[in-house]
Amino acid sequence: MTIDEADVRRGDVDPATGAIPTALVESYRQDGFVRVRGVLAPAEVDRFRAAAEAYLEAHRSESHAGGGVFTQLVNVWQRDPTIRELTLHPRVAGVAEQLIGTSVRIWHDHMLVKEPHNDVATEFHQDRPYWPHAGDRLSVSAWIALVDVPPERGCMTFLPGTQRLTGFRPQNLRDEEDLFTVDPSLRWSPRVTVPLRAGDCTFHSSYTGHMALPNRTDQARLAHVSIYMDAATTYTGAPHVVTDSLGLRPGDPLDGETFPRPRS
Ligand code: SIN
Ligand code: NI
Repeated sequence: MTIDEADVRRGDVDPATGAIPTALVESYRQDGFVRVRGVLAPAEVDRFRAAAEAYLEAHRSESHAGGGVFTQLVNVWQRDPTIRELTLHPRVAGVAEQLIGTSVRIWHDHMLVKEPHNDVATEFHQDRPYWPHAGDRLSVSAWIALVDVPPERGCMTFLPGTQRLTGFRPQNLRDEEDLFTVDPSLRWSPRVTVPLRAGDCTFHSSYTGHMALPNRTDQARLAHVSIYMDAATTYTGAPHVVTDSLGLRPGDPLDGETFPRPRS
């Protein structure tokens, strides 16, 4: 192993305490995203990747979205006991809590797979405008790489600082122009592309503009995304696949078994 390679493989999470360096917290609060290396140990990656691959084989046809962008399987934690351990992983949630500074609940998870030679990007968008959330401040997604994800396999690209932009309408993640139609100044924002090794994560605020590159490789891009919301979040009444069947009324808290606390 060269010195550079050793540095790349070094983890950012203190194995004894789960703490991450203050510099990463500051970077997240400034930019609205951060890369945290080695959140999962290699043995954990192997186990979760095997479970994800098996789940994908059995359930690919149930993909929620798609439109050629990715295979998307939502709330896998409710159906697969191994993936449940990943979505509720206290080390991952602990990093999210350090970044946002408050305790979290799970909003939902989703497995996002860009199949081999899927030449379609996930175009720039913010996540928060899609969600039926009110009273929230700080939702954050952990994008967990279960395989190595270099740019050519479809890693994420972020627009630093855009987490401060709230109130936009939902953007079409199949339209490369849409976010820039909503805010033309963003066309000139710096773009930061973040390759990940398996077991690394990016964490991004639900308001941070982001996209994912196409997968031009022979191997599937296997990402598992755990989305956390702060405990104050309530339901607006707007339609969403996660809440449509729950019988919630506007103003109800998003709590209970469906929206568990990974670190309670
Ligand atoms: C992707 O992984 O393709 C997109 C992820 C996201 O939009 O959060
Ligand atoms: Ni997104």
